[in-house]
Amino acid sequence: MTEFEMIAKTFQGLEEILAKELIDLGANGVAIGNRMVSFKGDKALMYKANFHLRTAIRILKPFLHFKADSADEVYDICRKVDWEKYMDLSDSFAVDSVVYSEDFRHSKFVAYRVKDAIADYFRDKYGKRPNVSVANPDLTFHIHISHDDCSLSLDSSGESLHKRGYRQEAMEAPLNEVLAAGMILMSGWDGKSDFVDPMCGSGTIPIEAALIAKNMAPGLFRSHFAFEKWKDFDRDLFEEIYNDDSAEREFEFTIKGYDKDPKAILTAKRNAKAAGLLDTIQFEQRDFKDFEPVKERTVIITNPPYGERLVEDNLLGLYEMIGERLKHALIGGEAWIISYHYECFDKIGLKPSAKIPLFNGALPCELRKYEIFDGRYNDFRGGDRRLKKDDLPTRRSSTLRHKARLAEKQEARDAEKPFRKDEERKPFHKTEGKKPFRKTEGGKPFHKSEGGKPFHKSEGGKPFRKSEGKKPFRKTENKPFRNNKK
Ligand SMILES: C[S@@+](CC[C@H](N)C(=O)[O-])C[C@H]1O[C@@H](n2cnc3c(N)ncnc32)[C@H](O)[C@@H]1O
Repeated sequence: MTEFEMIAKTFQGLEEILAKELIDLGANGVAIGNRMVSFKGDKALMYKANFHLRTAIRILKPFLHFKADSADEVYDICRKVDWEKYMDLSDSFAVDSVVYSEDFRHSKFVAYRVKDAIADYFRDKYGKRPNVSVANPDLTFHIHISHDDCSLSLDSSGESLHKRGYRQEAMEAPLNEVLAAGMILMSGWDGKSDFVDPMCGSGTIPIEAALIAKNMAPGLFRSHFAFEKWKDFDRDLFEEIYNDDSAEREFEFTIKGYDKDPKAILTAKRNAKAAGLLDTIQFEQRDFKDFEPVKERTVIITNPPYGERLVEDNLLGLYEMIGERLKHALIGGEAWIISYHYECFDKIGLKPSAKIPLFNGALPCELRKYEIFDGRYNDFRGGDRRLKKDDLPTRRSSTLRHKARLAEKQEARDAEKPFRKDEERKPFHKTEGKKPFRKTEGGKPFHKSEGGKPFHKSEGGKPFRKSEGKKPFRKTENKPFRNNKK
């Protein structure tokens, strides 16, 4: 099959882990950019990328690159595209835009002009125009502009890939599934030791951990991917990918999820049931202050509350208790904690062996790794397991915070700029991300990062047994091919 260019979008901080996932999936030409990874592959790889990647939020397929420095120029070029290659008059469509350019101040206006070009193309040819659908388009086009470099892409995913399909309910502040999976993959936990999230809320981290431990595809529960409506959709090929569970594996350790809130535990159980993982994860109502000693090599990954009200919510007291429990109950294990306030981290009172900047939504957070030893940290540093500086991530969260502040200021300045008269149009489709991604810097090649790897090495994710028809239920009833396993 012919190879083509693709772009996997992700959250800031997850680019390297996504690049590794892509390489493991067989992608070629993998190059890291800002909140995106570009790669090459064939149609099968595009289906696999949507179905298997845990840290991608969407997969774009660029089909036209051009230079333009005004929205009218974009219109003129788009007007000449053979749109019938991608859609019919009866298909509804949407256009998303991301603009990173002084020449194009309003990304929505560029999207309107692309939409106009598509509508005018069909109107000229058939006297009618296709419908624009914001909520449920058959096809979504994406225009990305960086300075005067423009790219038109087809969005092969549709709904963001973090919407796995297993979430029935959420508690307040659920962690995004892509971020949860990214944190677990970054930790290097691969299902070869016990795993605990002691403040699991709606269960996102334990559920993503179970999917990783069993090597189950995160796309199993999705009812739909946008590429299924494409003209060139190869149903047999996708059926083959969907039904191939040869890489799934048994999990011989335990995954536990605790929360002090009984409602959270009920919600987590419902979500795990929807993912067919209720037997794999043990959920229990328990306060972290009652956390009991666990087996050596246990890995904790958790996101404790990190609201704004440090004092009123006694967040500092909570983090102090977390530090005390880790020190006494996680000996020989490691904990990865994502939080926002430095003051909270300070209260943990343990020295982190890694600090990884990550964004949780718009919040610049940090994922910190704590290795708990039976003895003093200095003894450890002097011993064989000396921390290597090269193993630690080098980007500092302060840089990310600084960048975020700059971006916020820029957005505020943009918002103040007056619209030009010709830009005063009603938006027809919400643009997705607030901040545009930048192009890869000089096509920088991906280098394997060993940063923050824990003590157990993955054994190449080798398949170890054919799973026997344990596929969780699927929401779609009108797509029989997904269940017709022979
Ligand atoms: C930010 S939420 C976790 C969200 C979760 N990762 C999800 O995806 O839904 C923090 C959770 O910590 C729980 N929590 C707060 N204090 C706790 C404590 N002392 N022991 C156990 N759980 C606690 C809260 O009930 C809440 O569900």
